[in-house]
Amino acid sequence: MSPWWLLTLLTLVPFTLSTNAGVKVKLTQKGLEYTRLIGMTKLQQKLKAIKVPDLSGTEKVAPIGKVKYSLTGMQITNLGLPKSQLGMVPGTGLSLSIGNAFISLHGNWKVRYLHFVKDHGSFDLSVTGLTIATSIALKSDETGRPTVNSVSCASSVGSASIKFHGGASWLYNLFSAYIDKALRAALQKQICPLVSDAISDMNPHLKTLNVLAHVDKYAEIEYSMVASPAVSKAFVDFSLKGEFYNIGQHKEPPFSAPVFGLPPQINNMLYIGVSAFTANSAAFVYNNAGAFNLFITDDMIPPSSPIRLNTRTFGAFIPQIAKQYPAMMMKLLVKTTKQPNISFQLNNVTLQASGTVTAYAILPNTTLAPLFILNMEASVSAHIYVTGLKLAGSVTLNRMDMALGASYVGPFQVKSLDNIFLMVLKVAVLPKINAHLQQGYPLPTIGKMNLVNTQLQVLKDYMLIGTDVQFRG
Ligand SMILES: *[C@@H]1O[C@H](CO)[C@@H](O)[C@H](O)[C@H]1NC(C)=O
Ligand SMILES: *[C@@H]1O[C@H](CO)[C@@H](O)[C@H](O)[C@H]1NC(C)=O
Ligand SMILES: *[C@@H]1O[C@H](CO)[C@@H](O)[C@H](O)[C@H]1NC(C)=O
Repeated sequence: MSPWWLLTLLTLVPFTLSTNAGVKVKLTQKGLEYTRLIGMTKLQQKLKAIKVPDLSGTEKVAPIGKVKYSLTGMQITNLGLPKSQLGMVPGTGLSLSIGNAFISLHGNWKVRYLHFVKDHGSFDLSVTGLTIATSIALKSDETGRPTVNSVSCASSVGSASIKFHGGASWLYNLFSAYIDKALRAALQKQICPLVSDAISDMNPHLKTLNVLAHVDKYAEIEYSMVASPAVSKAFVDFSLKGEFYNIGQHKEPPFSAPVFGLPPQINNMLYIGVSAFTANSAAFVYNNAGAFNLFITDDMIPPSSPIRLNTRTFGAFIPQIAKQYPAMMMKLLVKTTKQPNISFQLNNVTLQASGTVTAYAILPNTTLAPLFILNMEASVSAHIYVTGLKLAGSVTLNRMDMALGASYVGPFQVKSLDNIFLMVLKVAVLPKINAHLQQGYPLPTIGKMNLVNTQLQVLKDYMLIGTDVQFRG
């Protein structure tokens, strides 16, 4: 191709914004092997349903002459697929090959010859050395769910043997000369369409991918695929959007998903990589929804605590408060001023938040009188784990720094309030956050699946979940 052609092509290709994946899923050989086991059980059921149509014809058999024959009521009595292989074909899809398969069937035969002689009986046919080879394309449908379909299929029948019950020995000749071929052809004609059907039957199952997973009253996660699955020699890689959105309102955050890839680990069936982008899209959504704004009242402080949210406690450090607002309860408003930032380092998930704490005195007529505003920077570490089909977590405080934003009660030392606010954070704020984190966030799932042998590692910029899968029903 001349370079001019290339240039023309490049200018013709419309400028498209590609979306990077926030979540990646890697299917290993072990996962494919499990898929094969499930698939072969389904295929076996499918093939057992083969209906061999009645077969009839007329052949000349020496020395009898014209013989009219018919085979009817043929039914599969046994079918085995002892050897099969499901492999990856880089860049293309999957290949399924089946060898040494066998089918036995039972039916009735009838012959008529010399115008008036009739004979009938039954027979058992056994076909062995059956091979089936099919290529499977793996794509993403218009909703971002995976689809499979058989793109080529070939089958061949090794040998067939028949046992007639009743009848004369020349029937065997009739069989080996004509009927054998006709029966084999009739069987073979059905195999590939049934295999193709069995492969397509996987699609309703694949369609259950939770492309929009509901989280809570604020958020949902989009898990549609952003590209067709990529097949390499040992893995099938799925790129999912992995982005949190406010329910029904898909506004993009001011940052986008960087490219990331998963290491070539092979011990589990699946590896799921959840990027820091996904976590930060969650922070964006909850921050927009105001979910990080929290009023703290005295009833949220354990009764055993000597520190109470009232003007007496605070008055001990800021006398002006006790003087101006004697014997009143207080209320704190904790608010983020920008989106918290979540970062993943080796074995460490850290969330950094900037916000304000506004302290109010609650006046007897329930009006809130502002006392002061503190600017706050907090850093918490998260422990993340998989529970069922969800990711959940809990956080512990690393550090909190506060500085005076505004005071309506005169100047005071912010440091003197450190212990009060540390206590408030630990007993009122973090438990709220942890209660939410414990509810969990759905992982991408298909059908009725369970995760087993699951581990989670936090790596730089993403976390890696290695897991095996079990399907129920
Ligand atoms: C989060 O912080 C890191 C540095 O700690 C910075 O590189 C990144 O841009 C921040 N992300 C957001 C969304 O603010
Ligand atoms: C994680 O990183 C943060 C910030 O870099 C640090 O403050 C914290 O101590 C670290 N936690 C652990 C468990 O290493
Ligand atoms: C509540 O009381 C304060 C001070 O006594 C007053 O300034 C304020 O207007 C009152 N608010 C209402 C709603 O009555």
